Amino acid sequence: MIIAVDGPAASGKGTIARALAKHYGLPHLDTGLLYRAVALTVVRNELNPDIEADCFAACDFDESVLADPELRTDEIGKIASIVSAHPLVRTALLHRQRRFANQPGGAVLDGRDIGTVIAPNADAKLFVKATPSIRAKRRHLELRQHGAVVSIDKVLADIRARDLRDSQRATAPLVLANDAALLDTSFLSIESGIQRAIELVEARTRVKTATS
Ligand code: CDP
Repeated sequence: MIIAVDGPAASGKGTIARALAKHYGLPHLDTGLLYRAVALTVVRNELNPDIEADCFAACDFDESVLADPELRTDEIGKIASIVSAHPLVRTALLHRQRRFANQPGGAVLDGRDIGTVIAPNADAKLFVKATPSIRAKRRHLELRQHGAVVSIDKVLADIRARDLRDSQRATAPLVLANDAALLDTSFLSIESGIQRAIELVEARTRVKTATS
């Protein structure tokens, strides 16, 4: 079974994807980490995130980068959203993600274009969303827990800028796949969000089984 989980920053998609993977005993890939690895490689090699050829060169990143704690910083998230808009970067990372999705037994992947580009054949597709102010509150709390000093207004402005860049880029923008189930986590606890996600996957796979 392939499960695609898409959605904007701090919507809860990562938590939900991890929980679904655990529930169904499937491997999980946080595809954002791949774009973050490109971003960190760009920064470390003093390349320019606005130049497509520079970012393409960084797609050949060292695998050890994927375990680097700096990958998770907000700064790298922001640069990831710039590098990920380049079509050559998306193509360079496409096969790796498709291979992961199509492995025997299936997988859970989360990102921005899983249901639309990477795994259009997914058995269940979820689009996880929450209001920008609630996402900013969650991200702000997360950053503070990691010791970062930043105002909530700045976090909200960053989230809005990232939403705009991710949804307006020409290649593989963040859009709701027409066969995706919408999950709004704005007013749900983590547990209720996970429960709802499982229900949605069950409903989708039941429909698929009945029609196949
Ligand atoms: O967790 P958060 O949403 O902050 O970030 P992420 O999922 O790690 O993704 C970082 C950036 O990578 C996003 O803002 C997107 O621009 C990009 N990305 C993408 O374009 N496609 C994906 N499948 C995953 C991430």
